Amino acid sequence: MSTGAHPTTIAVANQKGGVGKTTTAVNLAAGLARHGLRTLLVDLDLQGSATATLLSKKQLRGVETVAECMEREQGLGDIACPTATPGLWLAPSGEAMATLDIQLATAESRERVLSRCLAQTMPGELDVIVIDTAPYLGLVTLNALVAADHVLVPVTCEYLPILGLKLFREMLEKVCARVGARAEILGYVLTMYDRRERITQEVEALLRKTFGDRVLETPIRVSTRHKASASHRQTIYDFDGKRSRGRVDYERLTSEVMRRVGLEERATATCAGDASSRGEDASAPRASSASA
Ligand SMILES: Nc1ncnc2c1ncn2[C@@H]1O[C@H](COP(=O)(O)OP(=O)(O)OP(=O)(O)O)[C@@H](O)[C@H]1O
Ligand SMILES: [Mg+2]
Repeated sequence: MSTGAHPTTIAVANQKGGVGKTTTAVNLAAGLARHGLRTLLVDLDLQGSATATLLSKKQLRGVETVAECMEREQGLGDIACPTATPGLWLAPSGEAMATLDIQLATAESRERVLSRCLAQTMPGELDVIVIDTAPYLGLVTLNALVAADHVLVPVTCEYLPILGLKLFREMLEKVCARVGARAEILGYVLTMYDRRERITQEVEALLRKTFGDRVLETPIRVSTRHKASASHRQTIYDFDGKRSRGRVDYERLTSEVMRRVGLEERATATCAGDASSRGEDASAPRASSASA
């Protein structure tokens, strides 16, 4: 399918570390590709966790990273590697990311370098771009927020996430106003969710009261399979059984994101394993307004 339309760009961001950004970026991107959407995942984190999940060292040999492209302000098409998921490409991170912040500091309209690179990336060949970001609000992450149409914010149900989230939202609004960017918060995704824990229920209720329907209906339940799938270099769809919670949750999240950003019309495939379309795993939590 070649729509020629501008690809929808979703940044996955939260300045807090270890909240499930990379797990969400990888499995959302793969989930979108499984719906027939041609998807590029851009790894903007020096840690390279998304890159390590999707590509082997052998596949990465001799491949440049997003950093080199941003330094030269060129499209990411030449470095985009196909992954084991049909329709999903990855623009890898690597060592050169370590000095990118410094390099960008002297660039012209330095918050828009990634936007300019993406405008030259696989024109007419992509439906969606998903960007995984670092747990740090430096210039590189700022570039992701400015390039994005939507920002998805993973949140764990621990005490006091609200203050950090409010600061993040204020920062995003300021950045958008200052550079004329269009990004808005698509939603907060509850990750590592365990409804049996009282703290989870309390934090969920507070988040839903504070942010209303910006808190996505689909929580991502705690599952040891997420860590295991990443260490086996697989997405949750390749690693987990059709009815298992890790896979079901990300299938549901993908469907919800598609609905919220209007990507359903562009999708060309219904996932055979899309549990939400078959009503499987009725125990999986959906909108938890009851606990709000
Ligand atoms: N739903 C989940 N249940 C259990 N473990 C999870 C879940 N989601 C992610 N994890 C694990 O938690 C750890 C942190 O997740 P992840 O790397 O996705 O977070 P991150 O926000 O990208 O971290 P960083 O800020 O360091 O980039 C990883 O080991 C991951 O496998
Ligand atoms: Mg990460």
